[in-house]
Amino acid sequence: MTVSACNRSPLPTLYQEQRDGFVVIAHRGASGYAPENTLPAFQKALELNAEMIELDVMLSQDGVPVLFHDRELDRKTNGSGMVQDYTVEALQQLDAGTWFSEEFSGEKIPSLEEVLEWASGKISLNIEIKTEAWREDLEESIEPRVIRLVRDSEMSEHIIISSFDYRILRRLKELAPDLRTAVLYEQSQIGDKDPLTIVKELNAQAFNCSATQLTPEWMDQLQRAQIPVLVYTVNDPEVMKTLIQAGVSGIFSDYPDRLNLAVHNSR
Ligand code: G3P
Ligand code: MG
Repeated sequence: MTVSACNRSPLPTLYQEQRDGFVVIAHRGASGYAPENTLPAFQKALELNAEMIELDVMLSQDGVPVLFHDRELDRKTNGSGMVQDYTVEALQQLDAGTWFSEEFSGEKIPSLEEVLEWASGKISLNIEIKTEAWREDLEESIEPRVIRLVRDSEMSEHIIISSFDYRILRRLKELAPDLRTAVLYEQSQIGDKDPLTIVKELNAQAFNCSATQLTPEWMDQLQRAQIPVLVYTVNDPEVMKTLIQAGVSGIFSDYPDRLNLAVHNSR
């Protein structure tokens, strides 16, 4: 029998639960200290006591979910052109570290499978699926592939999947209603609807938005409905403090150490 995620805690189970009702999320790993979406950034997040890692997933040409944020390779690797035009083998030959610093020269683009294997038993994940990974044809699209990898990793209880693309969120819920999802606020898709309406429509468990978008009205509405609000990307300790006091359930930061300190100072 499929157990609906709605009957459980809306947020994933954390491996290092601090029981403070707040989640310290390393944005693309501890991306202030190491190249984003790479294993060193994830290792650093763990060392800095992040409770969850957010990562971005796209599809290689041969249909493998890989970690990358930008549609094009140019800014964050020594390659050029679209990620989706490269096989996973070709992507993994690129250098995804030198752009950040020489110290990370030769760092690889990880596959989602490699990261799940690394994270299992260590740290929860927010897997953000990029809109570039959507394919009209289900067989070609990213959703069934991510679902299979998550299930195989046996980390389902420790994962939430988010997207700005509501076609992806809809499909995820159709295929795997037990997996937790979070709506990433995207004005062009939401239109005049309020966040709570869209969270309910998509049967999602959480609402993610940028710190600049969040309003007191949204916060009030979502809190009343007991929908966790996760806010990105906050690196300023004063802004962290304001948001924590406003009652957000988690913050995505490139500096999880600063965020841990802000949580401590806000108690
Ligand atoms: O998932 C939160 C945040 O990462 C969304 O924006 O562009 O940093 O992926 P972006
Ligand atoms: Mg992201």
